[in-house]
Amino acid sequence: MPHILILGGDGYLGWPTAMYFSHRGYDVTVVDNYFRRNACLELDTGMLYPVPTLVQRAKIWHEKTGNEIKVVIADLQDPAVMRSLFSGSIRYNWAVNEEFSGVPEVVVHYAEQPSAPYSLINHRYANITLTNNLLVTNNLMFAVRDYARDTHIIKLGTMGEYGTPNIDIEEGWIEIDHKGKKDRFLFPRQASSLYHTTKIMDTDLLWFGVRMWNLRVTDLMQGPVYGIETEESKTDDRLRMIFNYDEVFGTILNRFIVQAVADYPLTVYGKGGQTRGYLNISDTLQCVHMSAETPAQKGQLRIFNQIMETFSANELAEKVQRVGKNMGYDVKINHIENPRKEAEEHYYNPTYQGLIEIGVNPHYLTDEVMEGMFRTVVKNKSNIRTDVIFRGIKWG
Ligand SMILES: NC(=O)c1ccc[n+]([C@@H]2O[C@H](COP(=O)([O-])OP(=O)(O)OC[C@H]3O[C@@H](n4cnc5c(N)ncnc54)[C@H](O)[C@@H]3O)[C@@H](O)[C@H]2O)c1
Repeated sequence: MPHILILGGDGYLGWPTAMYFSHRGYDVTVVDNYFRRNACLELDTGMLYPVPTLVQRAKIWHEKTGNEIKVVIADLQDPAVMRSLFSGSIRYNWAVNEEFSGVPEVVVHYAEQPSAPYSLINHRYANITLTNNLLVTNNLMFAVRDYARDTHIIKLGTMGEYGTPNIDIEEGWIEIDHKGKKDRFLFPRQASSLYHTTKIMDTDLLWFGVRMWNLRVTDLMQGPVYGIETEESKTDDRLRMIFNYDEVFGTILNRFIVQAVADYPLTVYGKGGQTRGYLNISDTLQCVHMSAETPAQKGQLRIFNQIMETFSANELAEKVQRVGKNMGYDVKINHIENPRKEAEEHYYNPTYQGLIEIGVNPHYLTDEVMEGMFRTVVKNKSNIRTDVIFRGIKWG
């Protein structure tokens, strides 16, 4: 069984990824320090439903499937913790078999502070974002360099690294013809927040590691993810992923559907022409899986744009309004003053073929998918706190 190490395994994407790989026969280890949960408590963001701890979820998964997901609760900013995951000196917080699973063939790096508004609350939160994200990535790079040079690093980047340039966005790289000579460079990045800036710096760090030490890295430039369930989470409510609908940690479509159910006018920022690429959480899992099954070469930084379709904020709001109305909700749309500094009307034409070429089969944002999300939110309607939906964290 290949061993996969998932950093950030308690998170929105980390836990469903752990179950997905476990279900498909991988030996899975997850690591998390509950940064996200603690930040939600500190900022009083609320969640759609309570989620058992990571250890509890691993136990439930084991009871239901017989499969083991080993759990480590520790801070990956500590180099000793990161190194122990590769050297074998790690101590598990929960495992059926306490023996080291061996050097992982694949490591999926989700363990970051993932919110743009969080990174711009004030100087303190900017520092937390910068130190956390860069230290975790650097610790991972050195641990792999020193103990596991064959290990394939799959790192989650974001489409937000590119910003919204007035030219087509390529998949990670661009060939430049300059004064009669040609070379291939990372596609220009110009982040829209400090969080996104750390993702650019992650890419640069790992690109350095690839050039210096022949590491093998896949960088998944992911768009905002939507969805509340996966094949595995549907089997038991206690296995559901963390789900936020607040301004700090919620992603746009997840937020709009909660707003619609709570009879809260959809919070479209400014003119609403902001266009981004989106994907269903099931496709995140597929993309990571197909990347793991077809690893990058040694000395290769392989980059995929991980989106399945693009929408403007207005288009998403109109879809939610239409589907909500069909289900009996009188959904209103409110164009509020944009707290962010971003273009509200712009050109947007990214390429996203690479993942499909390695076998990903996209799910699209159909009415049926949205109705399913509505139904899950409705079941948990009594937990929705309208006071946390919008707080107006300003970029300026
Ligand atoms: N969700 C999205 O729409 C989206 C879009 C683009 C990119 N991404 C990227 O995907 C990754 C996962 O995103 P997510 O939505 O699951 O976020 P998340 O916050 O739910 O998951 C990240 C997990 O990492 C953990 N973590 C953070 N710092 C840690 C540390 N120092 N030590 C141990 N654990 C730590 C957190 O506690 C959390 O459980 C992030 O890197 C994010 O930037 C997410």
